[in-house]
Amino acid sequence: MSAPRPTVYIETYGCQMNVSDSELMLGKLTALGYESVEQPDGADLILVNTCAIRDHAEQRVIGRIGELKRHMKPDTVLGVTGCMAQRLGPQLLEKAKHVSLVVGPDGYRALPTLIERARGGERSLATSFDLEEHYEDFAARRYDPVKAWIPVQRGCDYRCTYCIVPYTRGPERSRKLADVVREVERVTAEGMTEVVLLGQTVNSYSDGEHDFADLLRAVGAIDGVRRVRFTSPHPNDFSQRVVEAIADVPTVCEHVHLPMQSGSTRTLRRMLRRYTREQYFECVARLRRAVPGLALTTDIIVGFPGETDEEFEETLSAVRQVGFADAFTFIFSPRDGTPATRMPAELTVSADVASDRMQRLIALVRGIAREHNLGLLGTRYEVLVEKMAKRGADLLQTRTRDFKTVLVPGDESMIGRYLTVEITGTTGSTFIGAPVRERQPLPMAG
Ligand code: 5AD
Ligand code: SF4
Repeated sequence: MSAPRPTVYIETYGCQMNVSDSELMLGKLTALGYESVEQPDGADLILVNTCAIRDHAEQRVIGRIGELKRHMKPDTVLGVTGCMAQRLGPQLLEKAKHVSLVVGPDGYRALPTLIERARGGERSLATSFDLEEHYEDFAARRYDPVKAWIPVQRGCDYRCTYCIVPYTRGPERSRKLADVVREVERVTAEGMTEVVLLGQTVNSYSDGEHDFADLLRAVGAIDGVRRVRFTSPHPNDFSQRVVEAIADVPTVCEHVHLPMQSGSTRTLRRMLRRYTREQYFECVARLRRAVPGLALTTDIIVGFPGETDEEFEETLSAVRQVGFADAFTFIFSPRDGTPATRMPAELTVSADVASDRMQRLIALVRGIAREHNLGLLGTRYEVLVEKMAKRGADLLQTRTRDFKTVLVPGDESMIGRYLTVEITGTTGSTFIGAPVRERQPLPMAG
């Protein structure tokens, strides 16, 4: 009898880039003979792939790392990977003695060696950046059976003053277009039809020969691709070529997640976002002119240092003006080492004020969405079935091209299929839909 395969459990926090990195790590480890398990108990290897974007995200992970101790066997290797590993490095090894690996986003190639060493009792830190690293030879083991996360760019060259990402993920670099195309061809061969191109400022993609417009056109034309999405773009990188590609390529979906961060030019300047309120609106207008029916979602930070009531009101009015379909809203969280933490203390917005602004912003976003969504009752959409819905048995979570969530009755066998549905209800943010039997075309007369 052969020896049982070692088991690995990976827990992922944060953004889609982290999910994609976990898929790459899992791919590498399964290729080495590891079996993926869904519970930490008794796993030979546990990896916690972490996020450092806000303090809250880090606190959750720190709690979880403590908790995981209970699930470890005496010989389990526990590793912390991702942005928090990069940010805290040696401090993590110092504080959590049961952690034996701390590996940043560019260090996953060394994992097999470091795991071996950990089995021999050695503790390791790998937090160097590697500007060539795209893990091209790793074959991702994907968690999602319907949509494929495709990293096309790593790192970030912007320096928004609140953001830790340039420090945890290093400088921007892009994969070769041909490599991205090859990966997408592989996933379509496996039957997946939706791809999401990932990058910190994905529309600044450049492999030296091709820009993001070329990439959209190349990926969008691959046989078997029915939906192309991308996240997250920066407003300044929407060249006319990119906007035209979004408009021209039928598989590119009518949805753009366009982080605004603030609707006040003064706040935007302190954030070093490199655009004004008006320039953001111009970007929105160009996209909307080119892509009829485009839905926009966004990210907004409230309570950034120096944000006055007036500046916050400008954010509210910008939200009204654009009419976002949805928005992720965050209270500013100071990250050590970022320029925002060096701003004068008197600019600090109190926690009370920040949370009050957040509530008002959320109420506004919801109000706009509700009003818009009520107007969609009775309309029809093509949806892709993503998974079983969390709430309610026999309900599927499906998605329109413009990124609306529609809950539709159905069973597991329908996951991955496209349906036409009629919107029959809305909870304000999501929809209820009923499948529509599409009429057969009538036989031609004569
Ligand atoms: N505090 C609060 N929100 C932040 N984000 C990034 N850094 C911070 C921070 N320090 C938000 C931005 C970004 C999203 C991914 O997280 O809105 O677009
Ligand atoms: Fe952070 Fe700004 Fe880079 Fe986005 S563009 S990852 S917000 S520094």
